[in-house]
Amino acid sequence: MKRELEKVRDDALAAIDDAADEKALDEIRIKFLGRKGALTTLLRGTRQIAPEERPAFGKRANEVKREIGAAIDDKVVRLAEKGDETGERLDVTLPGLKSRRGTLHPITGVMNEMIDVFAGMGYKVAVGPEIELDDYNFTRLNFPIDHPARDMQDTFFVSKDKLLRTHTSPVQIRTMETQKPPFRVISPGKVYRHDRDTSHSPMFFQLEGFVVDKKIGMGDLKGSLTAFAQKIFSADTPVRFRSSFFPFTEPSAEVDIGCIFCKGEGCRMCKQSGWIEILGSGMIHPKVLRNVGIDPNEWIGFAFGMGVERIAILKHGIEPISTFYENDLRFLRQF
Ligand code: DAH
Repeated sequence: MKRELEKVRDDALAAIDDAADEKALDEIRIKFLGRKGALTTLLRGTRQIAPEERPAFGKRANEVKREIGAAIDDKVVRLAEKGDETGERLDVTLPGLKSRRGTLHPITGVMNEMIDVFAGMGYKVAVGPEIELDDYNFTRLNFPIDHPARDMQDTFFVSKDKLLRTHTSPVQIRTMETQKPPFRVISPGKVYRHDRDTSHSPMFFQLEGFVVDKKIGMGDLKGSLTAFAQKIFSADTPVRFRSSFFPFTEPSAEVDIGCIFCKGEGCRMCKQSGWIEILGSGMIHPKVLRNVGIDPNEWIGFAFGMGVERIAILKHGIEPISTFYENDLRFLRQF
């Protein structure tokens, strides 16, 4: 019996040594340690041994059992480390798989930056609907009915009196109509125009802003927008105000920054002028204030509006504008 026990041990260890994979080891475990396995069968026969030798035999049998079990476990680990037939190898020192983190869309990122700059100057955020009344989008902003100024913005009409807003300026009307001055408000959002080329998209984002208060003037407008441009681009970016026209402001001004691509020398991006337009602005027209029940003799306002894509294009040097909407992850992951 004792010799048989040692033979079972040697056979088992040899078989474990030869085992090529985990499946073979499972079979060995069953063959030697299973309920009908060689060792179990041997142990059942202890009655054939002289009683005084039984404890020693039992002790040795348990040692053999543990030894075989440990040898199997050990071999499982060694096999895994060496790799299986597919060539896969378990390297416990490798770092774990990282889950990929998303990034903000560049438009969202730039929009958040712009909002932060104005929030730092005390502006609050307001929003309005994308399907807007003609009345709010045009008429109350002092675009007379059938006036050619409406053609400045190619409009998608939803019905005779509803349209996809062509700018965020109607949020001025909606806010001033329902709240009391003073105001210091920005309004980011989507706008729509029938327009498409390398720098225009039928849907794009604007950021509107307006201030209504007492004792403010063009100087406040200039100071606020210069501070904004220099925070968004760089502190030494040149800013200039150029007189312009919008129905809802008087006087009106467009704001240019010194071309950030050629530093004012003249290039393709600035059409050789050295300047790039970034926004429209002006003192809120007294008629617009009257249209929302605010007395223009008591209150003064300035307003501005700009395209978010345009700022993002300038900040990141991206062209064409459609790059923003194609959802190409190779592009989006760079931000
Ligand atoms: N709404 C104008 C546009 O989309 C931009 C604009 C210009 C907004 C002057 C303003 C402003 O508030 O004062 O072209």
